[in-house]
Amino acid sequence: VQSATTEVGITQGLREGWSLPSTWYADPHILEQEIEKIFEPSWQYAGHVSRLAEPGDYLTTVAGMTPIVVVRDHSGDLRAFVNVCTHRGHEVAQGHGRRGTLQCHYHAWTFNLDGSLRAAPRSENEPGFSPEELGLVPASVAQWGPLVFVNAQADAPPLATALESLPKQATGMGLHLDAYTHLHATRDYTVDYNWKVFVDNATECYHCPPVHRGFADRFSVTKGAVKVWPGSRNFAWSVPLKDKRERRGDDYQVYYMWPNFVILADKSTYYYLMRFDPVEPGVTRFIEEFYFTPDTSDEYRDIEVEFNFQALGEDHEAGVSVQRGLRSGRVARGRFLLSEERLLYQVQSAYCAEMGIT
Ligand code: FES
Ligand SMILES: [Fe+2]
Repeated sequence: VQSATTEVGITQGLREGWSLPSTWYADPHILEQEIEKIFEPSWQYAGHVSRLAEPGDYLTTVAGMTPIVVVRDHSGDLRAFVNVCTHRGHEVAQGHGRRGTLQCHYHAWTFNLDGSLRAAPRSENEPGFSPEELGLVPASVAQWGPLVFVNAQADAPPLATALESLPKQATGMGLHLDAYTHLHATRDYTVDYNWKVFVDNATECYHCPPVHRGFADRFSVTKGAVKVWPGSRNFAWSVPLKDKRERRGDDYQVYYMWPNFVILADKSTYYYLMRFDPVEPGVTRFIEEFYFTPDTSDEYRDIEVEFNFQALGEDHEAGVSVQRGLRSGRVARGRFLLSEERLLYQVQSAYCAEMGIT
């Protein structure tokens, strides 16, 4: 049996139900390649458009290793720039807020909202100094409804291509992205497992009955009940609410966008936006935002937030255990169930394609 996992090529192994090599979840060289081949070229969720309502509103994020600032300029358009000062490399903007101009904290060079260099103190006497060459480097910004995404490249392929059929699936499943406008809770924290462990976990509800007791009590987690919409790198699934008359809320929806963005939703009241970034091979940072419809009460919101935090906490606990197991390398490749964990096969195949692995 062991030979099947070592002699078979990676993608052929996947077709036979052998998962990615365990060591790839704990290897800094693999992570370096993932940053370069997967994270750096991909569209990254940057924030909700409500944070960018007025000219001068800005927010900062990263795409791969590239710091990015998104601003609403004076003509009302969103613009994204590489958030790196053209003087000596300090990040120009921090956090989010509203400014008339963007001023770097290091030596106070100031940039207009269109990225052009407005002022560089004491540069008047500098021979050959041309401010017009020293604007911020452009990046890309685009929206899926109120969700703002950035790409580190100025000539990035369209966001719509990266989304595949997710917008259509969301519409079909009754998720109206504009309905959830009240930001009720945020979290920013790290967990001790590889980012792929979370992707793998999000592909299946096979783990729901043993891991998520509370969730499985509220939703029908049997194979026949869970509906799945596979894209090529993205996917969506929905889990029906049991006994609609007795239990609060609506069906539970999950949307995954390659490589590191998830929407969890109850279309009648909220969506829970989640971005997760690798920090180290065994450490992943989660940034989460919980948006509700304005008509929900704070009590209701707190109950739903707690319900989700409980379920996600259970996933994290499983993930930390998986990471210890994978890191040992003693089970070279896991054997997953092609019939039950089809999306795992799909997403790991997409991973191999992006990484140039055959
Ligand atoms: S690095 Fe920005 S002003 Fe010097
Ligand atoms: Fe889970």
